[in-house]
Amino acid sequence: MVKVNWEKMAIKTMQQHLKAAPDSVAQMAQRRSYPRLQEPAPSGEVLTSILQAGLRSPDHMHLRPWRFLSISGDDRKHLGDLFVNHIVTEQEDASPEIQAQAHSKAFRAPLILVGVAAYKEHPKVPKIEQAVSTGGVLNNIGLAAYHCGFGAVWRTGPYAYSDIVKAGLGIDEHEDIIGYLYLGTPPSWDRKMTPVEVDDFVVTWP
Ligand SMILES: Cc1cc2nc3c(=O)[nH]c(=O)nc-3n(C[C@H](O)[C@H](O)[C@H](O)COP(=O)(O)O)c2cc1C
Repeated sequence: MVKVNWEKMAIKTMQQHLKAAPDSVAQMAQRRSYPRLQEPAPSGEVLTSILQAGLRSPDHMHLRPWRFLSISGDDRKHLGDLFVNHIVTEQEDASPEIQAQAHSKAFRAPLILVGVAAYKEHPKVPKIEQAVSTGGVLNNIGLAAYHCGFGAVWRTGPYAYSDIVKAGLGIDEHEDIIGYLYLGTPPSWDRKMTPVEVDDFVVTWP
């Protein structure tokens, strides 16, 4: 019986397909962030596929040093409350307007994923690699969402580094928020893209 190496065949087919139609690569090169996002967010099977793609990111020793909190609908109110708690702790005289502005940030998209680096002890994998790996997942989720017709934007800022927000989200002091990935549908896809040139960043060495 002939033994077929399915994995090798799949890669060959993929490479042939890419040569003929590098659509997905061209689409990646067009990716941009969409800070304004509305309903609908990815859901159901599409969301599962997007997350599955994200979780296939490179991960030294397969530690899976990450976890993700998915926040949507009315639950965003609790996230907004945490943002306000942070603001009023930092700024005792924060006006109601400033507090309302902080709260509204939790409603900038219908779905928010909080990417958390949940570090594992490993002699060969320092924390920085685990943080990068978690970022890789977030990036892949954003890209996969884009491929599926959704917009995303990655944000950090003070709410990513706030002990108050972290504690409220149930994030351990030994863990880090790597980013909030806001997901939804942009009201318009027409958004300026800052160009990047390969030659500005990649050189042939030596
Ligand atoms: C780790 C990380 C943190 C970021 N934090 C913020 C942020 O807090 N606020 C923001 O406006 N953009 C933030 N960005 C940048 C946006 O996600 C986005 O990449 C940037 O606005 C450029 O737009 P583009 O992706 O369309 O080129 C962050 C990006 C990364 C990778």
